[in-house]
Amino acid sequence: MARKPMMAANWKMNKTVREAQDYVAALLPRAEDSEGVDIAVFVPFTCLHEVARMVEDSDVVAGAQNFYPEDSGSYTGEVSAPMLLDLGVGAVVVGHSERREIFGEDDELVARKTAKAIESGLLPVVCIGETKEERDGGQMWDKVSGQVKRVLEEVPDDVGGEQIVFAYEPIWAIGTGDTASPEDAQDAIGQIRDLLRDLKGDGFADSVRILYGGSMKPENVDEIIAQEDVDGGLVGGASLDVESFTALIGATQGSDWPVAE
Ligand code: PGA
Repeated sequence: MARKPMMAANWKMNKTVREAQDYVAALLPRAEDSEGVDIAVFVPFTCLHEVARMVEDSDVVAGAQNFYPEDSGSYTGEVSAPMLLDLGVGAVVVGHSERREIFGEDDELVARKTAKAIESGLLPVVCIGETKEERDGGQMWDKVSGQVKRVLEEVPDDVGGEQIVFAYEPIWAIGTGDTASPEDAQDAIGQIRDLLRDLKGDGFADSVRILYGGSMKPENVDEIIAQEDVDGGLVGGASLDVESFTALIGATQGSDWPVAE
């Protein structure tokens, strides 16, 4: 089964509304030529209303970087799935390693968020990955498989592979310039797909998209994307510049758009 690749920008805590407007205005005409690849921009809450409005009639999906898995109530500082849907948001990053490490999100909360996103009609992009110490200590697969299994415990059996996206993001490669080799990315993502095949069957494993994240940039995207099980990228630093992000989209769809410097 052919999976549609996805290229996703994760702006993290960057850009004002004005900067977001300039970026999306530049992205939209490029996105019109990008058949065959799903494009998502995960932006700060403060930009979501404007970005969702701007992409409304396009194929670009406006995404949030986080949410809380209750519909409403006494959760000061949090934002719910219905609030995101109200703005026209279509996807949400769940369990990014920065949220796990800096804000103490554990596997249980990540699993609850994943299930709630799916139930609400948001596409969760669920991040998993190991630290350098875990990789060097031979615990990479324990960590990553544990994260995947915990998420699946909360996901109802009838959920299809197209309703969830995983992003394998080795923590040592995030924002460091230190990318996993294409072979390491394929090894990890291939193993994740095999695990999903064992747990959820062929239909799920063949349709679920698994992205790579961690210092992806125009200079290394071709080799990573060429790997059999890699279905696209979740990109931080190199997504902040719209030229470089559109180069990544172009590479994903196999176009010959010029690679940004
Ligand atoms: P990076 O971030 O591309 O800057 O390494 C990726 C991510 O954290 O999603």
